[in-house]
Amino acid sequence: MIILGIETSCDDTGIAVIKADQRGLKRTCLPTKQESMRISILEQAPYGINFDILSNIVSSQVKVHAKYGGVVPNLAAREHLRNIEPCLKQAIKESKINLKKVDLIAVTTGPGLIPSLLIGVNFAKALAYKWQIPIIGVNHLEGHIAAIWLSPNHKTSKFRVPNPNFFPAISLLVSGGHTQLILINDFGKYKIIGETRDDAAGECFDKIAKLLNLGYPGGPAIATEAAKLKTKSQKLKVTLPRPMIEQKNYDFSFSGLKTAVLYLIRDNKEKIKDEKFVQNLCAEAQQAIIDVLIEKTMRAAKEYKAKTIILSGGVAANKELRKQLTKATKKLNSKPQLLIPHLKFCTDNAAMIAVAGYLRYKFKRPNNTNWRTISADANLRLKNW
Ligand code: KG4
Ligand code: ZN
Repeated sequence: MIILGIETSCDDTGIAVIKADQRGLKRTCLPTKQESMRISILEQAPYGINFDILSNIVSSQVKVHAKYGGVVPNLAAREHLRNIEPCLKQAIKESKINLKKVDLIAVTTGPGLIPSLLIGVNFAKALAYKWQIPIIGVNHLEGHIAAIWLSPNHKTSKFRVPNPNFFPAISLLVSGGHTQLILINDFGKYKIIGETRDDAAGECFDKIAKLLNLGYPGGPAIATEAAKLKTKSQKLKVTLPRPMIEQKNYDFSFSGLKTAVLYLIRDNKEKIKDEKFVQNLCAEAQQAIIDVLIEKTMRAAKEYKAKTIILSGGVAANKELRKQLTKATKKLNSKPQLLIPHLKFCTDNAAMIAVAGYLRYKFKRPNNTNWRTISADANLRLKNW
């Protein structure tokens, strides 16, 4: 099956063509409408689905938004409108498939910036109407989680239908717009157990980078500065708070951290001119975010006896977070498996949307996949299948 993925929820225009090959699945094991999903999934456990990424085009708008230190929604929509058709053409060309071969369109319907979402959703609906093929709306966050099934090496991009040893899973989803801890008890069964009460982790990186004039997006810029600190002797005493780390819930708050950096800059007007001080400040800000994320994730993993921990979203590209989460997971007595998307698929892309759309289409078998029923929703929540 060939799936066209479309992603325009924020400032990246993404179009991908993926091929889902389920030759490994026994026909009799495919879920039928009558079967309960749990049974059909257990039956399929030894089988898998190969995802071949035939093309994955991401047109970044970083240059457009950089001068504002963040995404400007209306400018983002204008850029999506300009880029989306060339991206489609390039995606189809690179995939070397005939347009008529596309079986399903998967498009991000939310959450995100409504001007941006509307461009992708309406474009996708027009294609579904023109080609007379099914279309499925995808929750962007479900897309980020589905990125764990993608591999840059097509041959190994294998989705193993989760077996009973996979659940419960705890997913830490950290992006520019979201910071959530999600309990996944079964295929398509999500429960948000905690989330940020104000800024998202990625937003915090972006805002701190803006305060330090490090450019946009802030996450990679702060990580780069922090990584310049090579030896202990270069370490200066810079201390920032770890908001809500002691609280016995799974919620987060990052706006206070940004304010703490603002005051630190205000009170150290001379020191801030020193690049070593900036590097220390970046390292401490990054570590403060990581400490809170890991502490809460580990606590959730223990409480819910997680067999799998999933890290996803743009901030999952942070190398220190990946490294430290791997270390923390190994220390857990229950030894859960840790799944982190390949670096290439952490930030917004349409391949992850295509995979999430395909899985929902295949396993939920939605009744309505008509273009008329699809609409954008800026505040879309993760819904159970
Ligand atoms: O998932 P994503 O591409 O877009 C949203 O859905 O929001 O995430 C973008 C966010 C930005 O805030 C960016 O600063 C952050 O991910 N990010 C990083 C890194 N790469 C991207 N944060 C920390 N370290 C990184 N290496
Ligand atoms: Zn995202």
